[in-house]
Amino acid sequence: MLKGKRILITAGPTKEFIDPVRFISNASSGKMGYAIAEELSSKGAEVILVSGPTNIKCNSNTIKVVQVTTALEMLQACQHYFDSVDIVFFTAAVADYRPLIMESSKIKKNDETMTIQLTKNPDIAYEFGKIKRDDQISVGFALETDNIIEYGKGKMQKKKFDFIVLNTTNENGEGFGFDTNKISLLFNDDSIKHFPLKAKTEVAKDIVAELETRIQNPIAI
Ligand code: PMT
Repeated sequence: MLKGKRILITAGPTKEFIDPVRFISNASSGKMGYAIAEELSSKGAEVILVSGPTNIKCNSNTIKVVQVTTALEMLQACQHYFDSVDIVFFTAAVADYRPLIMESSKIKKNDETMTIQLTKNPDIAYEFGKIKRDDQISVGFALETDNIIEYGKGKMQKKKFDFIVLNTTNENGEGFGFDTNKISLLFNDDSIKHFPLKAKTEVAKDIVAELETRIQNPIAI
């Protein structure tokens, strides 16, 4: 069913440079996004993986990997594919802000305190939501520490996700960095499915199985 479908996935963190040697980022390892890419590829989908900086080597030579560093680069890479894809997974932990100015030389520690002015990064999923066609499916992610369902629902509506994968950092083994994750899937009819802690490769199978169900029953999206 996914054979021949063109699918875009964002994965990993972005790095937003303060000066040539320092940056703002987060602890995303890319493991969740890469696992989804591998699972989709194993089902015959044509996968394009736009990845922030990670230590993962993609095992499949059928996945097109586009390496980026910053949120602006990730947006530009994704925009190239938005029109031509059937499905998009927004798995990346994109930095919400970047330094307003990137200093061209290493900043010297002359002062006791320093202030870095930040400016908002574009929201890649929101940008896709603005132009998304009815024949395209968008799957979002949300990592929250609290109010996960409420915040997840807000993100799903704002970014026009067909469903959203919720995960937290509340328990050991969930969220950033681990080989395992514990997710819930939230749908726009307010229904929710909870899953136990599993290897991210198994979590990817659950997410892709749900996608296949939704493709078979489009009214459910
Ligand atoms: O990489 P791992 O270590 O395996 O960890 C996986 C993960 C925890 C990063 C992943 O499962 C996850 O939850 N990713 C989303 C992280 C997040 O909290 O995103 P958000 O709430 O900032 O954004 C919500 C959605 O909008 C996400 O789908 C995100 O990719 C997207 N977004 C956000 C900001 C932005 N500027 N552009 C975006 O596309």
